[in-house]
Amino acid sequence: MRLILLGPPGSGKGTQSEFLVSRYGIPQISTGDILREAVAKGTQLGRAAKAYMEEGKLVPDQLIIDIIKERLVAPDCERGFILDGFPRTEAQAEALRTTLSEMELSLSAVINIQVDEPTLIRRLSGRRICRDCQANYHIDYSPPKISDKCNKCGGEIYQRKDDKEEVIKNRLKVYLDQTEPLINYYKNVGGLLKEINGKGKVEEIFDRIVNVLE
Ligand code: AP5
Repeated sequence: MRLILLGPPGSGKGTQSEFLVSRYGIPQISTGDILREAVAKGTQLGRAAKAYMEEGKLVPDQLIIDIIKERLVAPDCERGFILDGFPRTEAQAEALRTTLSEMELSLSAVINIQVDEPTLIRRLSGRRICRDCQANYHIDYSPPKISDKCNKCGGEIYQRKDDKEEVIKNRLKVYLDQTEPLINYYKNVGGLLKEINGKGKVEEIFDRIVNVLE
């Protein structure tokens, strides 16, 4: 199964990816996670991406396209993959189309997770992450059992710089300008686009996704 998860920041792409990984045994490819790791390690990619990410802007297409091209040929992608946060521009969608066609592969579905803006802002401003294992928490909906410590590995919990309210607003604007047009792009690719109501409990949303996939 080869899936794209579309949807605005905070719509639950990362959360739903985790469930999809365990159900279908295929890897999640999150360009955001790859970039954050590169920033943390101070690699050349990380140094190039850092300022864009902190301001809530998109990292230049070519950097992202190169990452994805390299990742899709890894052996763990043979049975499929879940693209979380890619593509985000029409140029990225076109590059993906060309790459998959060169590999003689096609997409199974594009899942568009829909959530209203006030909910997105609440989710993003309350999100916290484990610095060590990247486990995801929310200060109201799923807080860690011991404050500031990860339930899974005891690591330090932190807030992403781009989850501060002023940056969230910019990310949502960038999404509307540059990524939302991909909904129409995939609507025009026969039957691939599946609309999912992204409000409710995470398990309910996962059931909705599985229902459209199976
Ligand atoms: P990225 O990391 O991809 O961020 P994003 O798309 O903004 O998505 P998020 O991770 O913020 O949200 P999500 O939809 O995964 O929601 P989540 O499940 O975590 O990108 C970061 C930056 O990297 C970009 O701004 C850009 O600079 C750069 N970048 C990345 N990809 C790029 C690309 N392709 N091109 C160019 N630049 C790129 O959930 C959010 C919160 O809500 C969590 O706390 C979660 O616990 C909670 N939650 C989730 N579901 C529910 C629910 N049903 N009920 C209650 N709470 C919920």
